[in-house]
Amino acid sequence: MISRFPWAPSRRSFLTGAAAAIFPLHPTWAVTSRTFILRAAPGQARIAPEPWGMSDVWCYGGKVPGPEIRVRQGDRLQIQVENALDEETTVHWHGLRLPNAMDGVPHLTQRPIAAGETFTYEFNAVDAGTFWYHPHQRSFEQVGRGLYGPLIIEEPEPVRVDREVTWVLDDWRLTKSAAISDDFGNGHDMSHNGRVGNTVTINGRVPDTFAVKQGERIRLRLINAANARIFGLDFQDHEPTVIALDGQPVAPHKPEGGLVVLGPAMRADIVVDMRGSPGSRVSVIDRFYKGLEYQLIDLAFDATPLRASAPDWPLTLPSNPLPEPDLKSAVHHDVVFNGGMMGGMVMAEMGGNMGDDSSGGMMGGGGMMGMMHSGKIWFINGKAAEGHIMEPMLTLDRDRSHVIAMTNATAWHHPIHLHGHSFRVIARNGQPTRHREWQDTVLMAPREKVEIAFVADNPGDWMFHCHILEHQAAGMMGVIRVA
Ligand code: C2O
Ligand code: CU
Repeated sequence: MISRFPWAPSRRSFLTGAAAAIFPLHPTWAVTSRTFILRAAPGQARIAPEPWGMSDVWCYGGKVPGPEIRVRQGDRLQIQVENALDEETTVHWHGLRLPNAMDGVPHLTQRPIAAGETFTYEFNAVDAGTFWYHPHQRSFEQVGRGLYGPLIIEEPEPVRVDREVTWVLDDWRLTKSAAISDDFGNGHDMSHNGRVGNTVTINGRVPDTFAVKQGERIRLRLINAANARIFGLDFQDHEPTVIALDGQPVAPHKPEGGLVVLGPAMRADIVVDMRGSPGSRVSVIDRFYKGLEYQLIDLAFDATPLRASAPDWPLTLPSNPLPEPDLKSAVHHDVVFNGGMMGGMVMAEMGGNMGDDSSGGMMGGGGMMGMMHSGKIWFINGKAAEGHIMEPMLTLDRDRSHVIAMTNATAWHHPIHLHGHSFRVIARNGQPTRHREWQDTVLMAPREKVEIAFVADNPGDWMFHCHILEHQAAGMMGVIRVA
């Protein structure tokens, strides 16, 4: 039996036929099952350098980030999640196109995993790329305390590099004694730009230097696991080449304005040719927030070069089996995001009549404080989510192409994430994008309009939300049904 869907949950259909459907170029591939155990538990990690002590965290496998799950495209994953926390949890496999029941959304796709319980996730690695995993239950605190890890799916034929490195970026709010500040979900974070912290880490440590060699070519897999911080990385004269965004290959290009910009949950695979002279240092600077630039890490060049100049190996990744949306026949949908501090002002400036009216009346006047009191601060098409179960905000015809025109009618940035699908970002403020990049999380600037297009081929109820976890918790979340 050949299934129509590469992520069909039945093991038998996958083993007997679907592999050929996914990989027409490798019809003889054997499917490998890979088993992993992830234990979510309180632990300790050295986030801040000496002389600070260890910090209490919540983490997977006793460390931050959790263990790197690394498989090959086409493998079948079986991941047993043990919940040793004092509260319910789930694990969401961010960016993976998998069956709805494996998506890890509490109440919507599964019963939350109770304290002391175990749940086994099982799905196929359909797309190669850089992904990550994290809880979807009270994410603003669970992720903020350290529950997250990288999930790497290797291409059958990756681009040639000298070294491949994963950098999971995070941002912590630590007290003077290096404890995680426990003011999760406070009203100010919720209504402004989220929980932006004071300590940035790479792979769970405050970084110092990263040893490289002149002439070396490195593939860096960048993952932003922060609750709220947006990164804009400047590699100075080492301007990298972006080869994938959110795990999906993109035409190799230099980042716009020289900055690799990553909103929460976003990933970028970049190739950096190390051009510094032996013994020198080059700083990587985060320039996203104006006036708050800081040095993230130094590339420290070894005394001996690897080669005199950069190699000229090709940089184009093989593409993933994504269905191409047909814009001519696509169904059009409008989505408006509003709310937050200064939301009323932006709404007025943008015409003031966006979204349906269930919240519109409150946006202009003094209703803002009242809404914040009720914990509803952010709205999608006029509705604020109160939990994971809700009526779908959109129902998309399955196997059809859809365009969603999104308007950010707020004064803040929002990284908007759709579960279960990747979409092409086709236009920004009415202008076609250069690379029509596939993403699962798209960063919208204040007042920006962004159009995305995709084929709704994965049936189920899928979360659609801002990945600034405080915004998500304060209402910026909806459900899109594919049926
Ligand atoms: Cu990375 Cu709905 O999540
Ligand atoms: Cu947001």
